[in-house]
Amino acid sequence: MKATTEKFGVTPHQPSLWTRADALKVRADDPTTTQPLVSADFPVLSNDVFIWDTMPLRDLDGNVTSVDGWSVIFTLTADRHPNDPQYLDEDGNYDILRDWNDRHGRAKMYYWFSRTGKNWEFGGRVMAEGVSPTAREWAGTPILLNDRGEVDLYYTAVTPGATIVKVRGRVVTTEHGVSMVGFEKVKPLFEADGNMYQTEAQNAFWGFRDPWPFRDPNDGKLYMLFEGNVAGERGSHKVGEAEIGDVPPGYEDVGNSRFQTACVGIAVARDADGDDWEMLPPLLTAVGVNDQTERPHFVFQDGKYYLFTISHTFTYADGVTGPDGVYGFVADSLFGPYVPLNGSGLVLGNPSSQPFQTYSHYVMPNGLVTSFIDSVPTDESGTQIRVGGTEAPTVGMKIKGQQTFVVAEYDYGYIPPMLDVTLK
Ligand code: FRU
Repeated sequence: MKATTEKFGVTPHQPSLWTRADALKVRADDPTTTQPLVSADFPVLSNDVFIWDTMPLRDLDGNVTSVDGWSVIFTLTADRHPNDPQYLDEDGNYDILRDWNDRHGRAKMYYWFSRTGKNWEFGGRVMAEGVSPTAREWAGTPILLNDRGEVDLYYTAVTPGATIVKVRGRVVTTEHGVSMVGFEKVKPLFEADGNMYQTEAQNAFWGFRDPWPFRDPNDGKLYMLFEGNVAGERGSHKVGEAEIGDVPPGYEDVGNSRFQTACVGIAVARDADGDDWEMLPPLLTAVGVNDQTERPHFVFQDGKYYLFTISHTFTYADGVTGPDGVYGFVADSLFGPYVPLNGSGLVLGNPSSQPFQTYSHYVMPNGLVTSFIDSVPTDESGTQIRVGGTEAPTVGMKIKGQQTFVVAEYDYGYIPPMLDVTLK
């Protein structure tokens, strides 16, 4: 591993650890790290499709970018099936929850546009049927490359397998709207290797997805973050002193936490275009803590690297827990060491009274955090819910040193541009 990293002039590094001791500091419902309650009477973006993971068009430095005054977002999207007999319950009513829960199997990339950074208008599918090589088009990142409107869409081609891929196209604007053209040739970039990143053969529940390419503000090179699990056969991982951290007496028992092996992966491009990549050892591991660190992304601020990643309650290991939401870590240099923000890592979690209200948070460099509505209770007991599949209210957050603070709430799906590019 050392030789590999040195080959591309990248400093060899040790992954930073999110320890069990760090996770013990997680406090649900701390108002400074809790998303305001989402009301059950939210508006939906569309009655025809569910949307979840939202990917604003941006440049390689992370800036959310509009084109000719049009904001653009990409979303994971699936048709709603209110009239499909397959999704009717015994009483003939639409079982929206089952339809929603099945969405991952038919996820496709769609795009939306807006003049105001909200009230998104439906654009359509990015790739025509048959272009993407697998059944599922999972999360990634659309990058605006230049003022000719060229866009590289990095995403995850899933089932069979899980491959980080990219497809190039172009954004075209008129005074009436935006269209995506091209996006016809998908290029596979890499898959999990089994030495640094766990493969499907090592663990049927492996995760390898969610590419987030970026230009390092310090060395100027092209890198990519992604979600992975630490390589090794399922059940073979050791949760030792380092993974446990400095826990109080009585907290040494790790139970079955060896099954939780999430990591934030990183790769470096060998070329300027990002067609040829070399995987490097993970930036951060969560062995013994959590099994998923999804959609990792950076905010570069005050000369620091703020690493954010989303995670769930159900993916935590025995003896540790935390809300669904976004977690964060900070370092002075790209390869760390990373320390958990707010001591624990928790940055913005769901309130315990509405544990599934939102997910897939994306922290933008302007401190705004977008997410989607998953489900919101409609009665006191929480047994009745309303399924979302739409944009959540945007949250405003301040990032200060090793701490973060919720400071504002904005409209549903408010994703304003940070800069505008006039297309030539
Ligand atoms: C996050 C996520 C991503 C994945 C997608 C699949 O909500 O699990 O990690 O790419 O959703 O639908």
